[in-house]
Amino acid sequence: MSLKTLGQFIIEKQNDFPYAKGELSRLLRDIGIAAKIINREVNKAGLADILGEYGAENIQGEAQKKLDVYADEQFIEALTKGGECCYVASEEHEGGIDLSRHSVSKNGKYIVCIDPLDGSSNIDLNVSVGSIFSIYRRKHTDRPITMDEVLQYGSEQVAAGYVIYGSSTMLVYSTGKGVNGFTLDPSIGEFCLSHPEMQIPLDGKTYSVNEGNYLKFPQYIKDYIKYCQMEDSETNRPYTSRYIGSMVADLHRTLIIGGIFLYPETQSYPQGKLRLLYECNPLAFIIEQAGGKAVSGVERILEIKPTHLHQRTSIVIGSKHMVEKVEEFYAGHE
Ligand code: AHG
Ligand code: MN
Ligand code: MN
Ligand code: MN
Repeated sequence: MSLKTLGQFIIEKQNDFPYAKGELSRLLRDIGIAAKIINREVNKAGLADILGEYGAENIQGEAQKKLDVYADEQFIEALTKGGECCYVASEEHEGGIDLSRHSVSKNGKYIVCIDPLDGSSNIDLNVSVGSIFSIYRRKHTDRPITMDEVLQYGSEQVAAGYVIYGSSTMLVYSTGKGVNGFTLDPSIGEFCLSHPEMQIPLDGKTYSVNEGNYLKFPQYIKDYIKYCQMEDSETNRPYTSRYIGSMVADLHRTLIIGGIFLYPETQSYPQGKLRLLYECNPLAFIIEQAGGKAVSGVERILEIKPTHLHQRTSIVIGSKHMVEKVEEFYAGHE
């Protein structure tokens, strides 16, 4: 079988964008390089004294793990050296990092939002973790970057993707023309096209939610969870429950076999827990590009107006028909 590498695929797809000068391709290549370096470390984590706490908290008040910090450093280094990115917003930094002051990146045309390591609570347990990225075009190259340029709607993403460090390592991304998945072949150190033109099934049999929070959920979510558990042969219920606790891993399963993932608002997280810019928007972009749907309950994730870098939102995402069913429950409670 002849393999197509991520690098070859990106160059081939550049022709989809007649005015492209190769900058986005180079940016995606840089992200692929960071992913390979992080993968190397995740894989030998138990041997490399890289498990455990880093000893500091991030802006979310979460205890940073050593791998959170390591992954963040790798992305920032790759993006700084690459020169195509002028600004990075990361989960691990309170303010964004303005690379346009850096000589190599001063003409960089892209803004990148990253969750360098997703699934922190699973790092020490040999359970799948991931990385998430979201890319926007800079609006003005003749003046310093403003917050307005950074806080674009999810629908304005020019590309988004994730890496899953699982039983194999995969990079899945979209530039707005469908979704393609690449598996890392460790023997040659290259991501190779393994899942072309990924489509999420319209229906699924799996629901994914942290049911430990059940009592704190809004009533329509409680009702939907009960609906998932009820017997009905026509709709294949009861559905199966699956929750890994790494959003990337839960969404990767959902993308491949269909299903629904929910992280609603709770009393502890009245705006929802997951972050709009570097978790929900990129994964909503991928799932929509694969034929699925992503809403906050009230509105389409990609149409939420971002107001700050670490903004949170509730999210219901996955197979189109299943998300529409939750919307019916939501409408019924208004
Ligand atoms: P991160 O590790 O990047 O901080 O993200 C953690 C997120 C996400 O990966 C996961 O879906 C969710 O937190 C799990 O939260 P609960 O433990 O509250 O279910
Ligand atoms: Mn975190
Ligand atoms: Mn995360
Ligand atoms: Mn993270």
